[in-house]
Amino acid sequence: MADLLLGQVLSFTGDPFVIGEAAAQHLSRGAVLVDQGRIRAVGQAGDLRAAHPGASVHDYGDCLISAGFIDAHVHYPQTAIIASWGKRLIDWLNLYTFPEEMRFADPAYAEEIAGRYLDLVLARGTTTVCSYATIHPASVDAIFGAAQARGMRVFAGKTCMDRNAPEGLRDSAQSAYNDSKALLEKWHGRDRLSYVITPRFSPTSTPEQLAALGSLWREHPDCLMQTHLSEQTDEIAWVKDLFPQSRDYLDTYETQGLLREGAVYGHAIWLTDREKARLREAGASLVHCPTSNMFIGSGLFDMGLARHLRVGLATDTGGGSSFSMLRTMAAAYEVAQLRGEALHPAQLWWLATVGSARALHAEGQIGNIAPGMEADLAVIDLTSTPAIAQAAARAETLWQALFPTVMVGDDRAIRAVWVGGRPR
Ligand code: GUN
Ligand code: ZN
Repeated sequence: MADLLLGQVLSFTGDPFVIGEAAAQHLSRGAVLVDQGRIRAVGQAGDLRAAHPGASVHDYGDCLISAGFIDAHVHYPQTAIIASWGKRLIDWLNLYTFPEEMRFADPAYAEEIAGRYLDLVLARGTTTVCSYATIHPASVDAIFGAAQARGMRVFAGKTCMDRNAPEGLRDSAQSAYNDSKALLEKWHGRDRLSYVITPRFSPTSTPEQLAALGSLWREHPDCLMQTHLSEQTDEIAWVKDLFPQSRDYLDTYETQGLLREGAVYGHAIWLTDREKARLREAGASLVHCPTSNMFIGSGLFDMGLARHLRVGLATDTGGGSSFSMLRTMAAAYEVAQLRGEALHPAQLWWLATVGSARALHAEGQIGNIAPGMEADLAVIDLTSTPAIAQAAARAETLWQALFPTVMVGDDRAIRAVWVGGRPR
């Protein structure tokens, strides 16, 4: 039987970085018809109720029905080390991250964290993530198994590292190729799951490993490839030492076949003009991780890049300091303010939904509310706390009503989440 969700409905018909708030479509008393996992119709509540008298009605009152949030760059294995104090990237990796990732040699631990992680993000309205696993193949099985059990669309891949990581957390060029290929063949395209070829970043991969993964990507061109790019200045200096023959950081990927459409680079803060031009020519995606970039002290992403490139938004758990895409939108706003630009709420919301979907080349399935799209929805209470309610009470427009929830909201604002057409 079909379900009919009633409330305010927010969707996008264009890109707010190009056409401004006219890109958004808002129905103040709207409805979304869901059947067999997909959105079948969107319109005025009265019209859809009359047209579908047999549908089961879920009246969310003044709550806002949106596409579920899409977190385009996370490390689910870092769930337990969120908020680890006092270090910048390289020391943070060595002190906190690598010891925790070692624990994923135990498949039971990987399963426990994968399930916990997905429940944490669902409670915050996130219905899709693109995650790094660890070097252990079972850590990929764990996140895909947990996603399958929850009916979620999830992107993930085995993190590959064959140098500059501790014993026990290193593979080789050949084993990274073999393991990634086996996992890809096992999971890619099964249910709602997509395998992502995942070299961690140039400092932890030899050129041979990058080349092997470049070959795998050529053999499976419909996959995404994710990695990190130009996050901190110390990291860039290290890449320069490790790859003396490379023109810049991006070149370490480019020369090994790891730059083209479908490449998804996290952070991308300290880009040279050549790198920006090549990313644009190649049609690559970038992912802005604002809470992480502040927490680890990395820098301020240039949102101007969103006018020319696919840009998504992400928490970067656990370098990021939150599991929430609302908090992440707030941080994106603050970072842009520090660069002299005020992002419009329509731009922030778009980044967390359509923008991230586009960065993952999944905008045909998820990230928006339109007939035919998969029914992953977040129902947001725009008056979830007294502090938010008193600010929202003065609103004269949707954007004024929404912005207090963007800046101050948390999991209490998530009234309901629908995954694949089913309420959680
Ligand atoms: N660069 C390489 N690995 C990582 C990681 O796990 N987190 C972040 N923020 N940056 C990285
Ligand atoms: Zn990361």
